[in-house]
Formats: sequence, structure tokens, C-alpha cells
Amino acid sequence: MQQDKIIESYLGITPERRKSKVPAKLDFWQSATGLFLAIFMIAHMFLVSSILISDEAMYKVAKFFEGSFLFKAGEPAIVSGVAVVVIIVLVAHAFLAMRKFPINYRQFIVLKTHKHLMKHSDTNLWFVQAATGFAMFFLASVHLFVMLTQPDTIGPNGSAYRFVSEHFWILYIFLLFAVELHGSIGLYRLCIKWGWFEKLGISNLRRIKWFMSVFFIVLGLLTYGAYVKKGLTQTDSSINYKHIDTQLYGKGE
Ligand code: HEM
Repeated sequence: MQQDKIIESYLGITPERRKSKVPAKLDFWQSATGLFLAIFMIAHMFLVSSILISDEAMYKVAKFFEGSFLFKAGEPAIVSGVAVVVIIVLVAHAFLAMRKFPINYRQFIVLKTHKHLMKHSDTNLWFVQAATGFAMFFLASVHLFVMLTQPDTIGPNGSAYRFVSEHFWILYIFLLFAVELHGSIGLYRLCIKWGWFEKLGISNLRRIKWFMSVFFIVLGLLTYGAYVKKGLTQTDSSINYKHIDTQLYGKGE
């Protein structure tokens, strides 16, 4: 029985030679987790970019997510809770996506040759998505671990300090390009796969995909510049910039 199940999920065919539903279910969950992460990232990029309005605006956003509307001082553990949920969904998504990766060098070469011969733009996009997804295994986990364990350091000064003095600018520049390419290609593929927005036509969907990548990369770079600019001014070694935000802006009330 156990062996039958393994064969079923591996080949997509049940012992009775019926098509198994397992691959379709796994595909559904891959899409659902991807959609959740894409929506989360759209919201995340707008929230983090609140630094472009002002330091106070970014601080208020950070406090809001600590539940400052419920508890006066806010509770950073709420942000850790959100990070746990995102980590679980991200791991599930990566695990489901891994099924589609070539599993050895021979498979990889076959795939590369097909890609080269076909010159099919969606196959090229699939390669970009697989490569950026692979990069995010490493890049996103570092960022999420810090958000999970140091939620109290999120704020205009704390975040800028992390960007410059703790050298996260190196991680963030790669993560930014990886997530924006991966996310918009992922949403485009969801539309093609499930027939969403079919009426728009494939060329319009492709245009929207490029618009989204460019929009979020530009917004991300402006945001990145704002944190780096602030971080570069943090030169007084007697100040604890990482934990100074609450002192400067109050407890969010
Ligand atoms: C609960 C989950 C998350 C929280 C609370 C969070 C929060 C933040 C915060 C506060 C920053 C500003 C810099 C800092 O303080 O270090 C930031 C930057 C960034 N985050 Fe996240 N993040 C989360 C998840 C993610 C995920 C899943 C990704 C991508 C897979 C991501 C990608 C980025 C990128 C690329 C930047 C740099 C932004 C830029 O350069 O414009 N974050 N995040």
C-alpha cells in the first residue's frame, strides 16, 4: 500500500493505471502558497517604503504591526508570529517547487539544450524563476531569521543601522532583484496556468508582469537608498542606533 502511494505520487499514475490526483493537488498548493507570498511581498514593499515619506511614518507602520492599536506600547512578538507564518509558507512553497527542478546534471543539460533550441520566452522565464527561487532559499532565510528574532529593532534607525553597519545592504540588493523577478513571473504563470484574466490576452499579461517587476525594483531601490543614506549618517559610536527609535518617537501612542 505504502509502495503504491509512492509510485502514485512519483509517476502520477495509480496502480489501477488511473491518473493520480496527487500531482494536481501538489500543484494547487504550490500555486496557493505562491499567491500568498506574492500578496505578502506587495504589501511588504509598500510598508517598508514608508521611510520615503518620513522616519515617523516608517516608525508608525512598524508599531502598527506590533499591534499598537490594541496595546499601547505594541508587542514585537506579534511580528515574530507573522515571521513564523511566512517561514512556514515559504518552506512549503520551496518544497513543492523543488519537484520541478532538474535533479542531476544530465537532466539540467537536457533542459538547457531544450531551452536553447526552442527559444520559447515562457521557458526562459521558467529558468529565471527557478534560479531566483533557488537564490531565495538562502537569501530570504537570513532576512526572515533576523525579523523573527529581532522584531524590536525594526524602525527607521534600527533598520538603517542593519542596512549599513551590519552590512545587510549586500544581502538586500540580491534579495530585492530575486524577489521582484520571481514574484512577478510567478503571478504571470499563475494567470496562465489557472486562466485568470484570460480576457486580457497573453501580450497584455506579459506587459503587466514587466511593469510589476520594474515598478517594485524602482520602489525597492529608492527605499534601499533611503535606508543606506540614513545608515551612513549613524557615525556617533556613543549612540545605540539599533534601539534608539522608541526613545526618539515614543511607544507609538
Ligand atoms: C514577517 C516577515 C518580514 C518582515 C517583518 C520584514 C520586514 C522588513 C523590514 C523591516 C525591512 C527593512 C530593513 C530591515 O529592517 O532590515 C525589510 C527589507 C526587505 N525585505 Fe523584508 N520582511 C519580511 C519578509 C520578507 C520576505 C519573505 C522577503 C523576500 C522573500 C523580504 C524581502 C525584503 C527585501 C528585498 C528588503 C529590502 C528592501 C529594499 O531594499 O527596498 N522580506 N523587510
